[in-house]
Amino acid sequence: MSNILCIGAGYVGGPTMAVIAKNCPEHRVVVVDINEARIQAWQSDKLPIFEPGLAEVVKTAHGRNLFFSTEINRHIAEADIIFVSVNTPTKTFGQGAGRAADLQYWEKTARQILENSSGYKIVVEKSTLPVRTAEAMERILNSNGQGLRFDVLSNPEFLAEGTAIRDMENPDRVLIGGRDTPSGRSAVQAVVDIYAHWVPCERILTANLWSSELSKLVANAFLAQRVSSINAISALCEKTGADVTEVARAIGMDSRIGSKFLKAGVGFGGSCFQKDIMNLVYLCENYGLKEVADYWEQVVLMNAWQEARFVQRMVSSMFNTVASKRVAVFGAAFKADTGDTRESPALAVCRGLLEECANVVLSDPHALENARISLGAQAAQVCFEADPYRAAAGAHAIALVTEWAQFAALDYESIYDAMVKPAFIFDGRNILDHQRLFEIGFNVFPLGRPALTHFSVCDEDCI
Ligand code: UDX
Ligand code: UDX
Repeated sequence: MSNILCIGAGYVGGPTMAVIAKNCPEHRVVVVDINEARIQAWQSDKLPIFEPGLAEVVKTAHGRNLFFSTEINRHIAEADIIFVSVNTPTKTFGQGAGRAADLQYWEKTARQILENSSGYKIVVEKSTLPVRTAEAMERILNSNGQGLRFDVLSNPEFLAEGTAIRDMENPDRVLIGGRDTPSGRSAVQAVVDIYAHWVPCERILTANLWSSELSKLVANAFLAQRVSSINAISALCEKTGADVTEVARAIGMDSRIGSKFLKAGVGFGGSCFQKDIMNLVYLCENYGLKEVADYWEQVVLMNAWQEARFVQRMVSSMFNTVASKRVAVFGAAFKADTGDTRESPALAVCRGLLEECANVVLSDPHALENARISLGAQAAQVCFEADPYRAAAGAHAIALVTEWAQFAALDYESIYDAMVKPAFIFDGRNILDHQRLFEIGFNVFPLGRPALTHFSVCDEDCI
């Protein structure tokens, strides 16, 4: 039996440890966090994050071999293997602001581990970190003057929100990076043995520390790059009469390209993509690789442009003004099936509409609480309405920006009846039946497809 500890009970730490505890009943898994309210929520029936299937997994193991606690020091002392999953946001100050990762929580955690240890421990980086962070951590942990020894490993997380449990239960691969020394190899083996409880061994990859750290940044950069690439093409489709879903289908059937991550939309969000790419950009700049840095930064710039372009298209199609017009924004989460609003393109659209002085009504089945927090002072200018029918009543336009299945299943005929005419609908995720909406009477603006409008003189989108 091992004592496994995870520091950081967030979107990564919580679900990951729940799945480990479920699959490894002989190990004791404790998740700790400085945030007391968060820990209390993990211990209650209302978990702090919305994630399909998570509650069932937590229920299986909670109290058996899965525990949540704020007693960080005591649990560090008892642990054999410590996963560190504290947040590593983009720096907002000083050198590297807006690009580099802010490692203060990580370093603080490393020092806390050292202060509370009296014997050998394996420390695993779960948080996304810049390449060679493990080296700094090894230095902090191993220069203790008391003969204490630690092995630092990298085991990046590849789970996506909304499908976290499925991704953890059935991962494409698990990556574990460590030092090529006898102690490093046996530390890697200890973590391999945990995952081997449920992951086939051919999907457990081992690598050197730096490859493992870098692979996480590169995986997210490649995924985000595909989204920005198809979004760039969506703009061209709107100008030319091509349909971006048809283009995506046609190119995705080429097995060399593949069909996933080719859905054009209002932009990518989430806590990882932008942060990890900017981190990669900063690393490249630091190593004097300006061209490489510029290449990857363009992925983020394209994303910001796509968000802004969506709002501009709304304004220009609604007779060049949305000022004082009620606009229902369907969706606040950065994607469906999560309550997370970090870097959500839906909120970028809200902000853009507020700048145009629109009366924004925001509707989302699970993310309104987080949206209020993310919008900060601007939340006072937004009306939050969980019921989409009420949100749309009296509105000039609907902007669908998160692909919740609920939004596709609404009765758009009665929604149309309660809206101001001419009624507009902008489908930023292409999940609605555009022809049907047009027949109901809406002026329909899909993304990356020609608009369907009832005006005789229509905008440049109409082909
Ligand atoms: C985040 C990022 O998404 C991911 O890329 C990064 O690799 C790790 O951080 P996530 O789990 O989504 O992962 O973050 P978050 O939900 O903010 O959870 C981090 C938790 O760490 C918070 O609950 C915070 O209270 C806790 N924490 C932070 C500590 O317990 N101690 C600290 O010193 C700092
Ligand atoms: C991502 C990575 O997928 C995951 O491996 C990593 O561990 C964390 O970062 P996540 O951010 O949770 O996961 O969600 P993801 O499904 O990757 O979506 C990110 C954003 O891209 C969302 O806003 C989503 O709507 C958008 N997206 C995704 C598209 O616009 N089109 C697509 O085809 C796919």
